[in-house]
Order: sequence, then C-alpha cells, then structure tokens
Amino acid sequence: MTGLKVLVFVLALLPLGLLFLDIKNGALGPDPGQAITESLGLAAFQLLLITLLISPLKKLTGWAGWVRLRRMLGLFSFFYASLHVLVFLQLILGWGDLWATFTKRPYIIVGALAFLMLIPLAVTSFRSAMKKVGRWWKPLHRLIYPAGVLVWLHFLWQARADIGEMVAYGLVLLVLLGLRGHWNGWGDLIPLRKTAR
Ligand code: HEM
Repeated sequence: MTGLKVLVFVLALLPLGLLFLDIKNGALGPDPGQAITESLGLAAFQLLLITLLISPLKKLTGWAGWVRLRRMLGLFSFFYASLHVLVFLQLILGWGDLWATFTKRPYIIVGALAFLMLIPLAVTSFRSAMKKVGRWWKPLHRLIYPAGVLVWLHFLWQARADIGEMVAYGLVLLVLLGLRGHWNGWGDLIPLRKTAR
C-alpha cells in the first residue's frame, strides 16, 4: 500500500513538474499567465474526477484498498484548485477588488462556488476534523458532486471554440455520478442530507 501511495503522490505532482519545465523552457506561448492558470485548473478537475473514480473502482475490483488513496487525491485536487485561483489573481486580474473579480463573469462565479464547496471538504479531511463533524462527515463530503458539476460548467463556459474536450469530460462525470446513483440510490448524490448510514 505504501508503495502505491508513493506512486500516486508522485504521479499527482507530475502536472506541476511538467508546468515548471514549460515555464523554464519558455514553452507557454504568448500568454503564460493564462496558460499556467488553465493547466492548473485542468489538473484540479482531472484529480477531482479521479477522486470520484475511487468508489466505482472499489466496487468493480472488490479491493477496498483504493479508498485509502481517496483523501490524498482529493487534497491534491484542492491543492491544484488553490494554485489555479492564486495564479489567476496574481498573474491575470490582480488582488484589487476581489468581489468584483469573482462576480465579473458567470464562468468565474460558478468556479468560485465550486471552490467554496471544496474548502470544507479539504478542511475536514483530516482525522481530528473528521471526529469533530461526526455523522455530518458523509453528507458534507457529498458536496463533491455539485462541485464537480459546477467545475464542469466553469470548464464549458470558458471554452472559446471547440467544446469537444469539455463534452468528453462531461461524459466521464456523468458516468461517475450515474454509477453512484444507480448503485447507491439517487438520494446518495444529495449533499448535506443526513442518512442513517
Ligand atoms: C475562484 C475560483 C476560480 C476562478 C477565479 C477560476 C478562474 C479561471 C480562469 C480565469 C480560467 C481560464 C479561462 C480562460 O482561459 O480564459 C479557468 C479555467 C479553468 N478552471 Fe477555473 N477558476 C476557479 C475555480 C476552479 C476550480 C475550483 C476548478 C477545478 C477544481 C477549476 C478548473 C478549471 C478548468 C478545468 C479550466 C479550463 C482549463 C483549460 O482550458 O484547459 N477552476 N478558471
């Protein structure tokens, strides 16, 4: 397990490493700020989807060990999302009027909402916080489903011309949410709803 965890840790850092290489080689095109923001956002979304893949993998392979990778994957998604937002502020719009910045365009509003939903998930992913939230932990962590949908909308909305990539990611998200709804009941997708389990 430790070996697999180390492998996943290294793989999750790969997008950041590749980004540093591109920065070093000046390979980011005419607008490096935008290229860095996009690459970090994509890594965050991909890791969010991989986090959602863990339960289906467990069910399909019968190996419960997958679950032990979930917290690290979710935290990496949050890590990249945070860098994405920080780089956007630092290199694109600046730290001036944050309210105006975040409410400027609809795709930014949905991105910001998704980010706000990811914060409590990251904060409560540690053992001590898990204990504090108790039975609310599971309902709270179901916020990952609406957050995933909002991130996808954010991704689709900021697209300029070709939306093929966004449609492909949307289908992956749909299958992941669909599998969960199908196996656990559709109520399992509703966040903040306390259940007996
Ligand atoms: C306050 C929150 C957020 C802000 C201000 C923000 C801002 C941006 C901006 C400026 C872009 C680039 C748009 C362009 O190219 O013109 C972008 C793209 C993107 N963002 Fe965000 N974002 C936020 C939250 C998130 C979150 C939480 C995620 C994922 C977990 C995310 C994932 C993405 C993705 C996947 C793209 C498209 C990247 C690509 O084109 O390859 N964003 N965002």
